[in-house]
Amino acid sequence: MNQYKIALLPGDGIGPEITYVTKEILQLVSKQNSFDLQFNEYLIGGPAIEKTGSPLPEATLNSCRESDAVLMAAIGNPIYDDLPRDKRPETGLLKLRSGLKLFANIRPVKILPSLIEASSLKPKIIKDVDLMVVRELTGGIYFGEPKGRININDQEKAFNTMSYTSKEIDAIAKIAFELAKDRRKKICSVDKANVLDVSQLWRERVNLLSNDYKDIELNHLYVDNAAMQLVREPSQFDVILTGNLFGDIISDEAAMLTGSIGMLPSASLSTNGPGLFEPVHGSAPDIAGENKANPIAMILSAAMMLKVGLNETSAAQKIEEAVEKVLSEGFRTIDLMSEGKTQLGCKEMGEKILKFLK
Ligand code: IPM
Ligand code: MG
Repeated sequence: MNQYKIALLPGDGIGPEITYVTKEILQLVSKQNSFDLQFNEYLIGGPAIEKTGSPLPEATLNSCRESDAVLMAAIGNPIYDDLPRDKRPETGLLKLRSGLKLFANIRPVKILPSLIEASSLKPKIIKDVDLMVVRELTGGIYFGEPKGRININDQEKAFNTMSYTSKEIDAIAKIAFELAKDRRKKICSVDKANVLDVSQLWRERVNLLSNDYKDIELNHLYVDNAAMQLVREPSQFDVILTGNLFGDIISDEAAMLTGSIGMLPSASLSTNGPGLFEPVHGSAPDIAGENKANPIAMILSAAMMLKVGLNETSAAQKIEEAVEKVLSEGFRTIDLMSEGKTQLGCKEMGEKILKFLK
């Protein structure tokens, strides 16, 4: 029997509630599909700051490195907004991404037929959406040096640097081209090459690499235009390849096509070593502990973990099918609610999915 060590990181806000639900689902499918998951919970974000003073304790990073996959819920709490940057919860997540060298962030956006009416866009605009954001995750302006705050001429000045090396661009672009091969064979690379030097290099490298992938159709969009196209005609996109900051923004926008950001899973991968699987949404501190959270993005992240991280494809598919079934039968968490549907809490949504798995 295959055995896997899973590092569970509940984190902040709604994190613990959605983790609880997701873990129960994973336990059931592992039993049904004859593999063993050994869960270990570690501190990250707010709880880690409270207990150790650091948003990513060394012990958490080391344990994640020794696991087969890392499943995280959410990070961030406004009560820590005034802490110095290196002590904030988000810094814990960024250190985890760079510590595990997770340079490739993959965020699939697919419209489930049963949720078409939950989107703020018209059904005819979103009905054929099936895209994937491939976001560079350990470089760009999130990590560029120099950065900081200085005093200059009686003024305070703050700055960050957006930089990419050709090697970093090639690595993430290659992931996008490889993924496009098994899809509709289209890549849209998103940059700001009309203004930024870093984007000009980005565009040159992506063009160069495309010579090795003659059967993949490549186009480039400036990020402002891409943001507009995503709401104008989202079905034109297959794989969207972009850097860290643009990918952060574009992926939230793309998430809303599905009706709620509470639906979107993601995988962050390195060349070798464990992947990190996490919902695209944040920690939603405003509804934490109220049993209102939508656990589906984390449940689908767990399915991605099984498929991409552990190669347990059929268990992953069962989870995806159960989620689709629950939605097609009209069950909704509050973020997805519309007339005539049945509203469920986070825990009850988990129980319904478990029921459809049995
Ligand atoms: C995301 C989040 C993170 C990011 C935050 C929490 C640091 O918004 O995963 O998209 O900006 O990458
Ligand atoms: Mg984001």
